[in-house]
Amino acid sequence: MPQQRNFHHMNKKGTSLMNIRVLATSTLVGPYIDELGLRFPELCVAPCRSSAWKAGLASAEALIVLLSEPLTEADLDLCPNLRVIGTYSVGINHLPITSCQSRGIRIVNTQGVLTDATADLALTLLLSLTRRVREGEALVRSGHWKGWAPDLLLGTGLTGKTCGILGSGPIGRAFARRVWAIGMKVIFWNREGNQKPVDFGVDIAARLPLDELLRQSDVLSLHCPLTDTTRGLLNREKLDLLPHGAFLINTARGGILDEQAVMELLHQGKIGGVGLDVYENEPDLDPQWLVAPRTVLLPHLGSATLETREAMAKLLCDGIAESLLT
Ligand code: DGY
Repeated sequence: MPQQRNFHHMNKKGTSLMNIRVLATSTLVGPYIDELGLRFPELCVAPCRSSAWKAGLASAEALIVLLSEPLTEADLDLCPNLRVIGTYSVGINHLPITSCQSRGIRIVNTQGVLTDATADLALTLLLSLTRRVREGEALVRSGHWKGWAPDLLLGTGLTGKTCGILGSGPIGRAFARRVWAIGMKVIFWNREGNQKPVDFGVDIAARLPLDELLRQSDVLSLHCPLTDTTRGLLNREKLDLLPHGAFLINTARGGILDEQAVMELLHQGKIGGVGLDVYENEPDLDPQWLVAPRTVLLPHLGSATLETREAMAKLLCDGIAESLLT
């Protein structure tokens, strides 16, 4: 719990800060929630949907939630004083965006500071899959490794192959720079249907219609938000367009792809491997994933570096403070 101190400032409109209630479901990495508690002494940390949290909704002017804590329009009805919702994530698909807009409730997310960490993790998944890191590690630890052999755990080279990237925002472009650096050709698709080439910092890549991109993608990596446009986007019909043996990487959101269809194509060998950091019903994974071949499965670690999580906390708490003071 943040320390309670008796600060009593006035904001520009002359409202007493003592009246401002910030209701957070969790402390965050670093000192920033505590610091916010010094500025807004009535800050309260209570687990999401606990009785203390529910009791705080009536007076809360700011809510801080995690990406795993969906809020609904019904929740907003219980918050007559709410001015801002802060989420400790860049993704905002767990928030009632339209209702927030119509009620003038601001949403603060952590855009910008987790770009590199998430792109790094996508590359980690890709290289782990294609170089069979999981199997190699297990072999060494099993004690059954018999030594170097010409055909031991042969993987798949990426140089010269094509990487299709869904989403041309900061994370998609950061991932593009990484795969470009290992010699891949990059192509993009974005949900706006924009066909302009994408400048991703070190080169310029074509932006293609989805079907065309899928047909060319030896690797397909998802870097778009989960929205009404992208939900269920990669269904069986679309996944069938991928070249035989394509690798699929998802560090975006689970609901964008049809996990059942991916699993079937993986078992058929049509998909060469799948690297997942996010799942449709996380953390309740479809148990079939646990035994599926050629997969690397991570527990939503995209932004999980100390530096990144601290930067996210700072950005979020600064955004909440600014929203309450203006
Ligand atoms: C986010 O912040 O939305 C990401 O999913 C973190 O990995």
